[in-house]
Amino acid sequence: VLPGEHVYDGVLFFGYSPPDVLDAVKEFKVRDDDVFVVSYPKAGTTWLQEILWLVMNDGDFDGATKTPVYFRSPFLEFKDLVLNEVGIDLAIAMRSPRVIKSHLPFRMMPKQSLYLLSLQFVVVFRNPKDVCVSYYNFYKASSSFGEFTGTWRDFLIMFLTGRVDHGSWFDFTLSWWERRTEPNVYIVFYEDLKKDLKGEIRKIADFVGKNDLSDELLEKIATHCSFSSMRKNPMTNHEDVYSINKQVSPFLRKGIAGDWKNQFSVSQNEDFDAVYKQKMGDVEIPFQYEV
Ligand code: PPS
Repeated sequence: VLPGEHVYDGVLFFGYSPPDVLDAVKEFKVRDDDVFVVSYPKAGTTWLQEILWLVMNDGDFDGATKTPVYFRSPFLEFKDLVLNEVGIDLAIAMRSPRVIKSHLPFRMMPKQSLYLLSLQFVVVFRNPKDVCVSYYNFYKASSSFGEFTGTWRDFLIMFLTGRVDHGSWFDFTLSWWERRTEPNVYIVFYEDLKKDLKGEIRKIADFVGKNDLSDELLEKIATHCSFSSMRKNPMTNHEDVYSINKQVSPFLRKGIAGDWKNQFSVSQNEDFDAVYKQKMGDVEIPFQYEV
């Protein structure tokens, strides 16, 4: 057991999401124009936060260059005692419309979100093999998870058994997939963003009611949110985050679909597919494993 490690409602967490914060998330007061960016870690959360912040703020590029994305778009279940940063407090102090990040399965969302149907959930899905590889590299670089020194094989087993921060990818994914037909839930796939960023931004903007944004503005948002610009941009690349060792792996690492092929052995891939089949049963989600 690592410092701060605990299980809450069947989900494993580390120090930055302590039980009191997860309790407070349930009581969090939502507003009817909130937009939640919900994702399992490493699915493309930051990408969507930047896109949605610009969409919701009519392309305020000036504002986007002044403040890091994690302050413009608070992380709901986050509490950093070193910096005294608390996601919920940031969100409470923020003017509307808010773009709020969370990695929680649906059942752990603020209770009010069950009946406040005007608030919106943009859920980011990415194929789980790439998520796993991205998460492995993040685990090695981040000090939030007790200085992980295990091997790729160790991590793969942890991922498949849900023994990583924010728990099982399967649990998270099934909880949101089940809700995909709710009018206030929109699922966006990382791989679709890679294929047609501007087209996907248009669809996301339409979903959140911003259907009046010009083509030119959408083009500018897409350029601003490309991997190469977000990687260079100190407001999105997390270069100043103390807990990440960029020498080991930068936060914006490769930004591609299909990197899992460079990491998985043939037998690890077979094992992964077998566990996937066992956990997902008949549920068919159109993940793309390369683009
Ligand atoms: S976190 O810590 O859960 O919030 O991380 P998250 O932002 O979900 O995931 C990080 C991965 O998303 C990639 N990323 C992008 N890919 C393409 N284009 C853009 N603009 C972009 N922004 C972030 C980032 O590179 C991480 O994936 P990997 O595969 O590790 O590169």
